[in-house]
Order: sequence, then C-alpha cells, then structure tokens
Amino acid sequence: MTTMFWILWFFIAFIIVLVAFTLRKETEEMPRREILRAVESTGGMGVSERAFLWVFSWMDTRFRIQDYWNMSKGAYYNMHRQMPLSHAEKYKLRIIWYWYPLYCLGGISFLSFIILVITGTVLGIYYVPGGEGDPSPVYASMEFIMLELPFGYIIRAVHHWTTHFMVASVFLHMCRVYFTGAYRNPRELNWLIGVALMALTIVFGYSGYLLPWDSLAYGAAVIGINLANSSPLVGKYIATLLFGGSSLTPRTVTRMYFIHVFILPVIVTTLIIIHLFIVWVQGIAEPH
Ligand code: HEM
Repeated sequence: MTTMFWILWFFIAFIIVLVAFTLRKETEEMPRREILRAVESTGGMGVSERAFLWVFSWMDTRFRIQDYWNMSKGAYYNMHRQMPLSHAEKYKLRIIWYWYPLYCLGGISFLSFIILVITGTVLGIYYVPGGEGDPSPVYASMEFIMLELPFGYIIRAVHHWTTHFMVASVFLHMCRVYFTGAYRNPRELNWLIGVALMALTIVFGYSGYLLPWDSLAYGAAVIGINLANSSPLVGKYIATLLFGGSSLTPRTVTRMYFIHVFILPVIVTTLIIIHLFIVWVQGIAEPH
C-alpha cells in the first residue's frame, strides 16, 4: 500500500516535471514570440486579455491558426463569390415585400433539425431499442421516459412537435423555392439535393413513428412491411433490409432505430452541409 502511495506520487511528480520542461523548452523555441512580446509591451492589458493571447499563441505555434485563417480569407476573396444585396437594397425598395418571411423557411428547417438532433440524443440515452417480453423493453423504456425521467415527457414532446415543424417547413420551403423560380439555372443541383432532403425527412418521420412500439407504431409498421413485401421481385429483400425480416419481429424496431439514429442523420447532415454550402457560394436567387 505504502509502495503504491510513493509510486503514485513519483508518477505525478514525473508528469509535472515533464510538462514544465516541455513548456519551458517550447516557450524558448517559440517561432512566434511577437505575440507574447506584444502582450508584454502593452502595459495596460488585463489578466483575461493576457491569458487569451497566451492561450492563442500557444495554440498558434502548434496548429498554425493564423496561417489557416489567412489562407481561408485569401480563398474567400479569390472565389469572386456573389455577395448579393438583399432584394430591397438592390432595387432600393422602401417596403418589405410580403413574401420575404418565406425566405426564412430553409433556416427554420435547419433550426428544427438542430433541435431534433439535441432532443433525440437525450431520448436515445434512455430508449431501449429492442428485446422480447410483455410489455416489451422498448415500450417499458418509453413509459420510463414519460412517467419517471425528470423532464422526459417535455423532451419527447419537443422532439415530437419539432418533427411536425420540420416536415411542414421543409415542404413550404420547397414551395417557396418553386414559386420564386429559384430551382432554375444555376441552382438545379441544389433543387435535386432538396428533393432528396424532402424524401429523407419523411423517412426520418416514419422510422421515428415506429420507435415507441405502441399500437400506432405497430399499425404503421404493418402498412410499411406490407408495402415493402408487395414490391415486385425485390419485395422480400426490401422488407429484410428495412424491417429486419419479411414479418414483424422485435428485430424490426432495432432496425428502425439504427436507420433513425445512425444512417439517416449521417446522410441528412451531409446533404444539409452541401445544400447550405451551395447557397453560400451561389447566393439567394432573385424572384423571377
Ligand atoms: C432539411 C431540409 C432543408 C434545409 C435545412 C434547407 C435549408 C435551406 C436554406 C437555409 C436555404 C437558404 C434560403 C432560404 O432559407 O430560403 C435554402 C435554399 C434553397 N433550398 Fe433548401 N433546405 C431544405 C430542403 C430543401 C428542399 C426540399 C428543396 C427543394 C426540393 C430545397 C431547395 C433549395 C433551393 C433550390 C435553394 C436556393 C434558393 C434560392 O437561392 O432562393 N431545399 N435551403
């Protein structure tokens, strides 16, 4: 016991000396001491500014933050990207056109997605995706979230209602894009990515609807698996892929969970990033 005590202290002391030595050496060799000199030469600096600049220069010597920052600034100005004035600025309009709020719908879809990711992550901590029994462990975990987990029912309600908001706002965003003619050249690709996002949003909703494994979920699963099974030639394979077999079993809910919390989030997040990057590069379309 005593030996362990001394070994532990020796180890801690060794680490402290090692860290101190490394820091001292690196401070001496620091290629960018200008920042630190600037910190020292400006007398009136407070503790927090000094601490910030010290941390910044420490990070900068390791991760070359300034170089990457300047490089990205250069790339930004070199791209000659369109920096669109707002419609009102461009045409010197004195009134706000009644459809301007509709340009927020893409942003509302994005915000809904962020809220869904956050609340879904909390639900995923307590949800049990599968298992046999009566009631099933899945259903029991839903009861736990609704009845016992502090704020559990609120988190679930926010997740539930934000889903409705997202489906509605994505659909209305699509209508706005259509009726303002924003799908035309050069934005065809973003329209197609949008079509995929619309479809995936619905699949997100469907897969989530099955997760509570209550009678509503079971009814929806019956419809889904019958649809899948009745597809010509490949029906059995589609049912196995999506529902974990050609009939409903506890595996179905595990499969839906995996689709809902892993496959769809990865694809949708990637598509949203590409979608927003394209909007950033092309700017917002003028109404035609
Ligand atoms: C998860 C779903 C979606 C998100 C988060 C999203 C987000 C956005 C955002 C923030 C914008 C900027 C302009 C605005 O807010 O109106 C935008 C523009 C655009 N979106 Fe989406 N969108 C989604 C789905 C869709 C769908 C379903 C379509 C069409 C099928 C679509 C097609 C477009 C097009 C073509 C633009 C460019 C519009 C313009 O330049 O005026 N998006 N999107």
